[in-house]
Amino acid sequence: QEQNRELRERLEQLKKERNAIILAHYYQRDEIQEVADFRGDSFLLAQKAAETDAETIVFCGVHFMGESAKILAPNKTVLIPDERAGCPMADMVNVDGLRKLKAQHPNAKVVTYINSSAEIKAETDICCTSANAVRVIESLDAEEIIWVPDKNLGRYVQEKTGKKMIIWEGYCNTHDMLTVKDVYEMKAKYPEAEFVVHPECRPEVVALGDFVGSTTAIIDYCRRSDRKEFIVGTEDGTGYQLRKDSPDKSFHFASKFLVCPNMKVNNLKKLVKCLETMKPQIYVPQAIADKARISLERMLQVK
Ligand code: 13P
Ligand code: SF4
Repeated sequence: QEQNRELRERLEQLKKERNAIILAHYYQRDEIQEVADFRGDSFLLAQKAAETDAETIVFCGVHFMGESAKILAPNKTVLIPDERAGCPMADMVNVDGLRKLKAQHPNAKVVTYINSSAEIKAETDICCTSANAVRVIESLDAEEIIWVPDKNLGRYVQEKTGKKMIIWEGYCNTHDMLTVKDVYEMKAKYPEAEFVVHPECRPEVVALGDFVGSTTAIIDYCRRSDRKEFIVGTEDGTGYQLRKDSPDKSFHFASKFLVCPNMKVNNLKKLVKCLETMKPQIYVPQAIADKARISLERMLQVK
């Protein structure tokens, strides 16, 4: 407690010295979310990175998020507390494989989930997040869509839009772990609760949802709902904002495995240290960043 207080004080001082803002994804540890200037899902944080006047952005999330911030704000310094915080789903798609698919479907548009590397975004027509995937797909005038890398979100969006989609076989190790059995067990235990679920979960699990949406959409839904009890089908860090918004409601995470180990690599101590040393910084080669920026900016323009 005492140590955290000292770290928080040091952080405030460093933020001023470095003219820095701290962006934290909802899956970060509570001790990080507590000190963030903005908490959000992938979409909101990308928007904040693009808009900020601060000289330094500390991105508390996983590597692809820091990369997207750097691409959108190339003249800023972008720091991440620990560069080992990767996303296994982002690593499931490679440039050669995507190029092969593009060659096989020359008329298709490539839609890439933001959970991907800068190199993949550079091969992409438009990016999306789970918050705007349906709108992004609907904004396109294309017969056929190549979708990378999340097969679960891809199938969900395909069902919603009815578009012809060629779907890559990637998935989120954390969300994909949730099973129908887990959900039935929780529903039996908490019969009054509504089940809210992220579309990165398997289709058969998503089908059980009373509400399906991105992390922010889930948080908004639970805050507004008259219901007092929820079974939550997304990463456990979301509990911080859910409980903050609605201290009188109960939130039961649908499985004890809904914890992304990559997101938890960051902690308050590392956050302070990265601002102290100004390391590790995110670097994206300019040629890649310039191409990737087009696909991210197109996404930000979809209303
Ligand atoms: P959102 O932030 O878009 O809900 O995505 C979830 C996720 O898995 C981020 O890594
Ligand atoms: Fe990647 Fe899933 Fe972790 Fe998000 S929750 S960073 S998609 S592994």
